[in-house]
Amino acid sequence: MFTILKKGSMYIISGTASESIAKDLSKKLKVPLAKTITKRFPDQELYVRIMDDIENEEVIIVQTTYPDPNIIELFLLQNAVIEADAEAITTVIPYYGYARQDTMFKKGEAISAKALAQLIGLNSDRVITVDPHKEYILDFFNTDSYSCTAVPSIAKYLKKKNLDMVLAPDKGALNRAKTASEIINCDFDYMEKTRIDGETVEIKPKNLDVENKNVGIIDDIISTGGTMAKSIKELRKQKAKKIFVSCTHGLFADQAIKKLNSAGCDEIISTDTIENDYSKVEIAPAISEYIK
Ligand code: R5P
Repeated sequence: MFTILKKGSMYIISGTASESIAKDLSKKLKVPLAKTITKRFPDQELYVRIMDDIENEEVIIVQTTYPDPNIIELFLLQNAVIEADAEAITTVIPYYGYARQDTMFKKGEAISAKALAQLIGLNSDRVITVDPHKEYILDFFNTDSYSCTAVPSIAKYLKKKNLDMVLAPDKGALNRAKTASEIINCDFDYMEKTRIDGETVEIKPKNLDVENKNVGIIDDIISTGGTMAKSIKELRKQKAKKIFVSCTHGLFADQAIKKLNSAGCDEIISTDTIENDYSKVEIAPAISEYIK
């Protein structure tokens, strides 16, 4: 948690990818939303303008860095804020895209998590993001950076579903399931996942004691839906009753939703870090805890 650097007025500036979070934060923190103009030139290049006078003000920019055009928009907003002589910039990145390539897995690869973070950090006094794929990527921003988690908010939503168990789709995510299970007051466990490549995962059978039980699966990201679909199929084989799949960041690439439904899930739940039809959990309350 951090305190506002300058006591006095402050503005929230919303990027177009995160308008609902910016509005929620504005209400929660009682900080006005700055008026902005965003438009595209005929060749699709972007134009942004901040209409309020933010000179010497502390500013919070809110923008998810997915998909790619939203990254450029964030850079332009940061530049507009700097050109307007704001006092300090906090960049809130609800979903930090490009985080999964966080190391050089093969010689010659770009480390996208680092490349992007370094550029965002250049024009930020502080960065806040939500459930980054790995916590250590926060160091890549080279500025004060914080992460908050959506897990308690997702767990509160899942609590209404009468769950008997929460599962992590792999052992590395077990802590997330454990935290959720403590809020829901149910059992927790994990599935045996092996990633073959970007689009293929294998979920090995493992006796999970889910017969006739309501199960929730919780992950940081659902992208192609491959991980969740395989997990759902395994749980169906083991005769689970109802299956709820949940994540912080719902990318839902390609046919992900179709895959999840045809694998037999009862409900799909995500937060609004990427706004979509399944954004049933608001992330602003968790972010606002970090800004006092
Ligand atoms: C991987 O480590 C992540 O936590 C998610 O499990 C993964 O990104 C999900 O991807 P997909 O939906 O494509 O299986």
